[in-house]
Amino acid sequence: MMFYSDSLNVNQQGHLVIGGCDTVTLANHYGTPLYVMDENAIRRALRDYKKSIDDNHKNGGMVTYASKACCFKEIYRIVMQEGCGIDVVSGGELYTAMQVGFPAELIFLHGNNKSDAELRMALNYGVGRIVVDNLIELNKLSYIAIEMGKRADIYLRITPGIEAHTHDFVKTGQIDSKFGITLENGDALQAVKAAVKLNGITLKGLHCHIGSQIFDEKPFEFAAQTMFNFMVEIREVTGITLGELDLGGGFGVKYTQNDNPKKLGEYMNLVSEALKESAQKLNFPLPYIVIEPGRSIVASSGITLYTVGAVKDIPGVRSYVSIDGGMTDNPRYALYKAQYTVLVANKADQPPECEYTIAGRCCESGDMIQENVMLQSCRHGDIIAVLSTGAYNYSMSSNYNRFPRPAVVMVKDGESRIVVKAEDYEDLVRNDL
Ligand code: LLP
Repeated sequence: MMFYSDSLNVNQQGHLVIGGCDTVTLANHYGTPLYVMDENAIRRALRDYKKSIDDNHKNGGMVTYASKACCFKEIYRIVMQEGCGIDVVSGGELYTAMQVGFPAELIFLHGNNKSDAELRMALNYGVGRIVVDNLIELNKLSYIAIEMGKRADIYLRITPGIEAHTHDFVKTGQIDSKFGITLENGDALQAVKAAVKLNGITLKGLHCHIGSQIFDEKPFEFAAQTMFNFMVEIREVTGITLGELDLGGGFGVKYTQNDNPKKLGEYMNLVSEALKESAQKLNFPLPYIVIEPGRSIVASSGITLYTVGAVKDIPGVRSYVSIDGGMTDNPRYALYKAQYTVLVANKADQPPECEYTIAGRCCESGDMIQENVMLQSCRHGDIIAVLSTGAYNYSMSSNYNRFPRPAVVMVKDGESRIVVKAEDYEDLVRNDL
């Protein structure tokens, strides 16, 4: 079996191994369902991105991990140790980061409808940048900052009119999005003019984010150029030279053999070339560059392990394999028909020979992890591994049907440790009165 992640291989027993740990042993020891993440893979990804920024942007740049992809204390500690920043989108993510002593100046707060309490919290902690989404928020933040006797360093989130999809992109100009301020109709320029006049606010730069799970570098290049041209326009119209540009995240990862992403650093190498060209042509200083990859830092570091319960063959229709988890720990198939690579972890050395639908155990027909995929023949008690579940699985999990969330185990060089405890029934009733 060919794996897309350096973290995985198969041992002599024919068991899937992650980060040097036998997955069957992990499943027996910690129980299933179980999220498993390889620490070295996360660190490698952060370093690759950091290198691509350091190599290409001598006058400065930063990798901020988009922590919505996977958020718990230990991830923040790892990101902190690697010298990267984080993007948070809620008071909850911000609180979690502060709990491990994450340097506030390396935290960027996002969100299209931040509450007053979240803005106050961010100003109190002294976060590095608040990425302002709209004019109402801009005015609200100015008011709150003045009232608190603080200054907010901000970016304005601009919608550059590029709709990027996995395999293509369109330049729509007027993009239909709940996020950000539209560039095409002049709203963005008005917002810049307003921001520089407001008290309590310092406009440091601009932000854009064009989508997620994008494989082609062209939309990133195009977005960077569009934003750069806008910075030049701002200088022409207002005389202000903005020095920072945040290009968001969205770099694609390999879930199945049909996905062909570039190597992590390569996106920024290409985007940086386009930026440098523009800077030279337009005689504008190359800004400090920020990127916010989320998925591509954690997705392939993680797998989820389940135990097979019922196997139901409906002749002429299909065979269901029911596992002890499902849409509560991975809602991405139910939500997006997201594709994954699945295998039987205790038979990883055997070829796939049967077609199965992997069903979860929620009272919901749509609770499936994957439909009609080829697997090693499956029996009650087998361990199923779903690969590349490190991003947007744990962070999107729920307690539907009152299933407690599984534990997260971090593996590294053959050692394993719990980094998030499994929830128990007491956790489920804790807030019930
Ligand atoms: N920056 C901003 C402003 C974002 O909105 C996002 C993702 C990122 C960075 C990180 O993008 P990434 O590098 O992870 O693609 N739940 C969906 C993905 C939602 C992405 C939302 N924003 C999924 O499971 O596919």
